[in-house]
Amino acid sequence: TNKPTALIILFGATGDLAKRKLFPSIYRLFQKKNIEKFAVIGVARRPLTNAEFQENVKDSVQTFADSHENVDDFVSHFSYHSHDVSSSESYIELKNIADKLDEQYDLNGNRIFYLAMAPEFFGTIAEQVKAQGLTDTTGYKRLVIEKPFGTSFESAQELNVQIRTAFSEDEIYRIDHYLGKEMVQNIEVIRFANAMFEPLWNNQYISNIQVTSSETLGVEERGRYYETSGALRDMVQNHLMQMVALLAMEPPIKLTDEEIRSEKARAFRSLRPMKKEDVEAFFVRGQYDEGTVSNSLLPAYRNEPSVDSESNTETYVAGKLLIDNFRWAGVPFYIRTGKRMDVKSTKIVVQFKDIPMNLYYSKEPEENVHPNLLVIHIQPEEGITLLLNAKKNGNQMQTKPVRLSFSNTSIDRMNTPEAYEKLLFDSMRGDATNFTHWDEVALSWKFVDIISEVWEHTKDETFPNYVAGSAGPKCADNLLEKDGHFWWPIENLEIDN
Ligand code: BG6
Repeated sequence: TNKPTALIILFGATGDLAKRKLFPSIYRLFQKKNIEKFAVIGVARRPLTNAEFQENVKDSVQTFADSHENVDDFVSHFSYHSHDVSSSESYIELKNIADKLDEQYDLNGNRIFYLAMAPEFFGTIAEQVKAQGLTDTTGYKRLVIEKPFGTSFESAQELNVQIRTAFSEDEIYRIDHYLGKEMVQNIEVIRFANAMFEPLWNNQYISNIQVTSSETLGVEERGRYYETSGALRDMVQNHLMQMVALLAMEPPIKLTDEEIRSEKARAFRSLRPMKKEDVEAFFVRGQYDEGTVSNSLLPAYRNEPSVDSESNTETYVAGKLLIDNFRWAGVPFYIRTGKRMDVKSTKIVVQFKDIPMNLYYSKEPEENVHPNLLVIHIQPEEGITLLLNAKKNGNQMQTKPVRLSFSNTSIDRMNTPEAYEKLLFDSMRGDATNFTHWDEVALSWKFVDIISEVWEHTKDETFPNYVAGSAGPKCADNLLEKDGHFWWPIENLEIDN
């Protein structure tokens, strides 16, 4: 059979990501028999026996996966190595475990090095796994890494040089978990598998595109990390810009990872570079204040654990991107993302231009012809809505907006893989399409760097400028009003079932 085989060496095996996402994802792959021959070595500093580690994995599956059959069989594939990142000895021990498992499970020397941990150790690990011969294997060797991939172009480049000592670009799988989401992957299919959108997908017919990713959660226990990041680096540089690239890119000539990733990189290359003096006109920021949600008072960002009481870190960003090419010249791509908002929702709204002449003009705004909208619902509900105008029943030739909706959520949810599950499976199959190439990472950092430099050096005196549980700061509305546009209120765009 063509099932991939892999030895997964998971650094950061006692961390949150492993517990919440990775173990349940590997379990789902196992449970669906997408993988059969595999073994996992959990690697972390903490001393644990194999049995204790397997117990942790079992716990995670029972808490976070939707079925619990064969869990004992599943966890028998797991071993643990208590590791000292900087000791060569420790890598030699790890290699011995790896070689043994390789033989025991007949894995053809196929190895995935998954680094679910702070990037400060990426360099040492890459160097050591190479020096101690762990990457010296008869099968494939691949490196899967998590964000944050740097905090700027420069630091990302440094990281990249470090990991390239042991892995080539085509062996590196940089995770952006948004690329594993079903509806993010659907952007490409909606565009390139339908005759009716692609001809209109340009500045002649599209007025603007709006990408919103709002969260209700605050910064939680991640204050220390978030203070070095902020919404711009946490969400915009990666997830939001990736969605923009998928919306803006030219059709690839084939569906190979090489072709798709190079089209995305071209879209990034056509972004109008930010200039320091333009930042204020193109990007705005916010920080949440305390607020009451369902009768409980939520703290202001500045009062969250590990956050500076005068923090200048943004928890909200809205911005306008311009893409200077034939297809998109003049079409703004608006993006916004924030924590502690009123809803958890990620949506894309494509607003088409007004009809050239309105035969159905009415003085009442709610009776008037509505702009056509294509809404792509990324989460929590998944689907597509197309907003059209139809005739209002009666004797008058009046219009009313109607919706054509497709809901993906109700369909076969159980068998729909989750983002991490898909990405892990892709990395085992050697499909890098839904991972970010270094070119994309470099270009998106360069774009974002100008904004973060300006923001780091100017204290925002309006902070905190939105209430926890609200729709965000006023400055985000002004950003669009200047252009004669407004944010489509996402709560009115739910899918009709
Ligand atoms: C992560 C960010 O990359 O994405 C988090 O670090 C954020 O701050 C998360 O909460 C959002 O992911 P999702 O899948 O819940 O939209």
